[in-house]
Amino acid sequence: MSIPAAPPKRESFLAFSPPALTEEEIAEVVDTLRSDWITTGPKARRFEQEFGAYLQAPAALALNSCTAGLHVALATLGIGPGDEVITTPMTFVASVNVIEHVGARPVLVDVEPDTLNIDPLQVERAITPRTRAILPVHFTGHPVELDPIQALAAQHSLHVVEDAAHALPASYRGRAIGSSSNPTAFSFYATKNLTTAEGGMLTGDPEFLDRARVISLHGMNRDAWRRYDRGASWFYEVTAPGFKYNLTDIQAALGLVQLRRLDGMQARRRALVARYLDAFAGEEALVLPVERAHVEHAWHLFVIRLRHDLLTIERNQFIEELTELNIGSSVHFIPVHLHPYYRDRYQMAPQDLPMAHGAYEAMLSLPLNARMSDTDQEDVIAAVQYLLRVHRR
Ligand SMILES: Cc1ncc(COP(=O)(O)O)c(C=O)c1O
Repeated sequence: MSIPAAPPKRESFLAFSPPALTEEEIAEVVDTLRSDWITTGPKARRFEQEFGAYLQAPAALALNSCTAGLHVALATLGIGPGDEVITTPMTFVASVNVIEHVGARPVLVDVEPDTLNIDPLQVERAITPRTRAILPVHFTGHPVELDPIQALAAQHSLHVVEDAAHALPASYRGRAIGSSSNPTAFSFYATKNLTTAEGGMLTGDPEFLDRARVISLHGMNRDAWRRYDRGASWFYEVTAPGFKYNLTDIQAALGLVQLRRLDGMQARRRALVARYLDAFAGEEALVLPVERAHVEHAWHLFVIRLRHDLLTIERNQFIEELTELNIGSSVHFIPVHLHPYYRDRYQMAPQDLPMAHGAYEAMLSLPLNARMSDTDQEDVIAAVQYLLRVHRR
């Protein structure tokens, strides 16, 4: 029996996903701080316009999170008590919490084995007379199968609200995610492909977004910028009990620069993904992420799955040993039906959604971000390969 080589331990800890910010972002934020307008104003408006133009979206509304975008979208559609919204368990819980927030019932259906995206066949089976919307999540940035989902929506008169927290930039059959009239919510949280620290954008039809804009800011028919600007009227009326979900100009300043840098950052992500796929191609004990031929993947996350039948180590221990080797990793996601609130409220067992549960038990996310150097990635690859070798069954 050969003795394994010494563990390839990094000198310093490799963080899972630090933000990729430069002096340019810093200068733009300082410019905002030195201006007379620090909250929602000219830069937030410009960020909406440039983001919308980048995706060729019908219109865009800047908000303080993706969660806000999803919540406002459901509220603007008038979805509420008595309604059902079909969604996926393989997501961050925010996608499902917002359904509860409007008083509707989330209906969780299982995912496809390769992409771990919501399975259109399961969606079809879950449709009832109470279904009002489908809320698919482009998990890790791989677009969901929009054509069959859109066909079901048309057939049953349902809305489609897309959670595109991971999907910037991504496309499905040549169409950018966010370019359709579906309300589509993006996240600019600190770890995302484009960050404003916290922030989000809702894209969709201009008329729909006009209503969403009002609901996103107290239900006022005139936002602060337009009230306090020179020559503006002080008068406003409240037409709905809205929320406080606006994005500040300080955040928009970050977004404007990040958007200009996005294509370059994506090229780096894709190069890192190609290197991972190449390095792990021969590793039988890993299930690697896929990119279907008709999509462009945003590669927000690189999720691998361990084949427990070929390994003597389980996922949790694998993560601990990676941490020992100074490699940060994470799990995306704990399926929603395992969280006590959803488990108890809807009486769900892990095996009710076997694909999501099985994937969860085997999965971990490796570091993937535009700041990673080749050496950082070599360290991750060496650590993963080492653990696979020493724990081979
Ligand atoms: C799939 C998904 N949806 C929604 C969200 C919520 O995004 P935000 O933090 O911008 O509200 C996240 C955040 O990580 C997410 O991963």
